[in-house]
Amino acid sequence: MPAGIVIRLRELHKAYDTREILRGINLHIEAGEFVFLTGPSGAGKSTFLRLLYAAERPTSGEVWIGGRRVDTMTRKDLPELRRQMGIIFQDFKLLRRKTVLENITFVLRFHGLSSREAQRRAYLSLKRMGLQHRQSALPDALSGGEKQRTAIARALAYQPRVILADEPTGNLDAELAAELMSLLCDINYQGATVLVATHDHSLLESIPARTLVLHRGAIQYDGSWPP
Ligand SMILES: Nc1ncnc2c1ncn2[C@@H]1O[C@H](COP(=O)(O)OP(=O)(O)OP(=O)(O)O)[C@@H](O)[C@H]1O
Ligand SMILES: [Mg+2]
Repeated sequence: MPAGIVIRLRELHKAYDTREILRGINLHIEAGEFVFLTGPSGAGKSTFLRLLYAAERPTSGEVWIGGRRVDTMTRKDLPELRRQMGIIFQDFKLLRRKTVLENITFVLRFHGLSSREAQRRAYLSLKRMGLQHRQSALPDALSGGEKQRTAIARALAYQPRVILADEPTGNLDAELAAELMSLLCDINYQGATVLVATHDHSLLESIPARTLVLHRGAIQYDGSWPP
């Protein structure tokens, strides 16, 4: 992905039926930025992220990622888009019939890694999240925090250029949350662009970063935190 602007939104609108969630968002995020997206529950943070990875289409407006227009992409172009991204979902989206390790190797295989390399990387990524001892467990047997860490290990295993994280610390205790933030900072320092959606103000205060406040469908504030 070229340097410069990685994420660009132009006049982005999203409505569910007649309810407008996003009302004409204009924004750009440059390569290597670390950005928080915050706002009250129901403000549209998850919707915003889903538009970026093309799980949803905007009602109108444009979404550009790394110089490519996403909102008009056909299905066959989506895998290539998603390969550039590490996505940490608010509801984890773990595959219930696969073990913790297999949840990660599955994604790495999708990225084209050999089975052996996928196993190695998946194990290292789990180890980084302190979860290697749970590698053979099925997701239903995990605690909320362990599920979250599996989802994080999966998103980071491929060393993506863009990381989209939706409430990544929602199920973690303070110590694990701090560890995750420091990990995301390291990854950002190595060049990845990171966008973290959260309504947790203590997280915003944990590191100095550009913060976007989403309220009533608009970016009400864009700057350092606290305002
Ligand atoms: N598929 C859908 N159909 C209809 N309404 C939806 C859909 N997805 C989300 N919404 C509504 O859009 C609004 C924004 O939802 P969204 O999940 O983006 O908020 P959020 O800021 O992520 O909230 P939270 O902090 O609770 O995660 C909410 O009122 C939600 O009920
Ligand atoms: Mg959400």
